[in-house]
Amino acid sequence: MRISIVYAKPGMKLADNVYKSRKVLLRAGTVLTPATINALKKRGILEIEVESERDMQALAAGSQEVDIISEEIRLKAEQTIKDIWEEVRNGGRIHIARVRSTVETILEDLSKRNYTFLKLADIRALDNYTFTHSVNVCVLALNLGIASGYTEAELLELGTGALLHDLGKVIIPGDVLNKPGPLNEKEIEIVRKHPAHGFHLLSQEPEIGINAALIPYEHHERYQGDGYPRGLRGDAIHKFAQLVAIADVYDSLTSDRSYRSKLKPYEAVEILIAMSGQGFNPKLVNLLLDNVEIYPVGCIVELNDGSLAVVTSVNKMLPIRPKVRKLVRHGESYVPSGDEMDLMENPTVFITRVISLNWMSRGGAGSQREDKAL
Ligand SMILES: [Fe+2]
Repeated sequence: MRISIVYAKPGMKLADNVYKSRKVLLRAGTVLTPATINALKKRGILEIEVESERDMQALAAGSQEVDIISEEIRLKAEQTIKDIWEEVRNGGRIHIARVRSTVETILEDLSKRNYTFLKLADIRALDNYTFTHSVNVCVLALNLGIASGYTEAELLELGTGALLHDLGKVIIPGDVLNKPGPLNEKEIEIVRKHPAHGFHLLSQEPEIGINAALIPYEHHERYQGDGYPRGLRGDAIHKFAQLVAIADVYDSLTSDRSYRSKLKPYEAVEILIAMSGQGFNPKLVNLLLDNVEIYPVGCIVELNDGSLAVVTSVNKMLPIRPKVRKLVRHGESYVPSGDEMDLMENPTVFITRVISLNWMSRGGAGSQREDKAL
């Protein structure tokens, strides 16, 4: 299968030699690496022949490419929150040192990664259970905290409260917590006790500051005052809790729940936009939108008419409606064709799924050139 070098990915295997000025640059059978792909680009190679099955597998794998934090850190963080949950459920204290070192490790990992934008598709881990959710909410909240320009001390408090935002759920019996289908009135009443209980657990710990403890207490408050437990409005809700509320809802919407299947990142973002000003502080929703790329440049998507397209630029005003160019079959490969289409101006056309998140969005060497080539 012949593909544009733009779509070359590590792991693909060359089905034919790559020549330049009659010299073999790479032999058939070579498995591509980031270095060899870069080398091909630098030498001006525009197309390569790859083994088709591997290619499709690699493209498919690309759609769930990277986690925003390393696998090791995620697993450790999930184990920590699981252990803390168990300890507290059994009447023990919160192991503060472990919480702090988890938040610090996540912060350190985030700072090492050179993301211009937080890619929402990346944050969604595959599993769905409370511990994964807690880690996801922590990672997303910290990213938004960094974007807000919070100090190191503030980030530590934000991360601690975010990681423990649902700890109060230890009082909810398992059959209620995991009940498939809607809850009855009595059960809703029990679930609604978790913010106050979480606050109680965190505020008992002298090493956890009030700003962190208010996160569990106020993460179900809503901007217009229709949240719980206290019905706080606007900025009466602590800024950390407002931020964690958005992270919490976003991650819940994109999780598989017992009562519904998960939404795609852009569907979840549409819901957050619809809730802006009502449920959430519009400034914070905008902050999220300013710092995410739902469909990064170079990302290959499927449109509702069944065609494939590549994202050519992101509309800052409405990232769910980027500019795209359709891809058409050329022999056995796909190439961009026709004019750029602005989805903002074509309301009947929409993206149904992401086929591959392309490396170009990382802004790596040569990305400018490829952007233009598209
Ligand atoms: Fe909650």
